[in-house]
Amino acid sequence: MRLSGTHVLIAGATGSGKGSILWSLFRALAPAIESGHVAMWVVDPKGGMELRPGIALFARFEDGTTDSMCELLEELVQLKDERARELASEARRVHEPTPASPHIVLVIDELATLTAFAERSIVRRIDQALGLLLTQGRACGITVVAAVQDPGKDVVGWRDLFPTRVAMRLDNPIQVDMVLGEGARDRGARSDQISELTPGVAFVRVEGTRELRRVRASYLDDQAIERLACSVTPPVGEAA
Ligand SMILES: Nc1ncnc2c1ncn2[C@@H]1O[C@H](COP(=O)(O)OP(=O)(O)OP(=O)(O)O)[C@@H](O)[C@H]1O
Ligand SMILES: [Mg+2]
Repeated sequence: MRLSGTHVLIAGATGSGKGSILWSLFRALAPAIESGHVAMWVVDPKGGMELRPGIALFARFEDGTTDSMCELLEELVQLKDERARELASEARRVHEPTPASPHIVLVIDELATLTAFAERSIVRRIDQALGLLLTQGRACGITVVAAVQDPGKDVVGWRDLFPTRVAMRLDNPIQVDMVLGEGARDRGARSDQISELTPGVAFVRVEGTRELRRVRASYLDDQAIERLACSVTPPVGEAA
């Protein structure tokens, strides 16, 4: 799955295997994290249960209060603005990742919980920061990867800003088109029929095409996660 120049929305019911997609991504990115070309900024609103074991891989990690997660997003918006100014002053249109200025992958596990318990003023700030990152981040070397359980109306508002979409097992047929776009289910993406016995299975809509592909993420158990976390030491750079 390409991450450069896109944003990724992963939707799936509880237990559908969203975590396995995220961990597979982290494992695939490990060499680029190690060399410093990619920096992971990770927000785990569910209190770090899912992603904290990978903390050694992450340049930034927040699983505390909604305030601190909001501040992390706003910090990334500032970095985006700096990069945009730099690109403009050098007459470049696209950011090239280097260890001094890595490609940043912002991962948000369970987007809906990020705002569910927050005060309205914080929700507004989060919405604004996320909107700016999704609309302007790509050229500045920033990719947003967000996971959600329920692709309901809150999420659909953001959907079109995610060019790459992953529909894991979903509870009902209507949700399939909510994630993958109109007509996707009729064209074969039966995410509502994925068995509970095969977590990690998903249909993926590749950016810029109508093509739908069935995939299964590899599964990293606790030991594999521990090995992965021990094997990588991200360099301390701009984004750390
Ligand atoms: N790709 C996979 N292959 C095999 N088993 C998997 C895979 N992904 C997940 N599982 C199994 O399913 C369980 C639930 O997966 P996971 O925690 O990733 O779901 P989730 O979608 O993140 O759920 P939640 O929304 O509750 O966080 C895992 O603990 C594991 O046992
Ligand atoms: Mg999860």
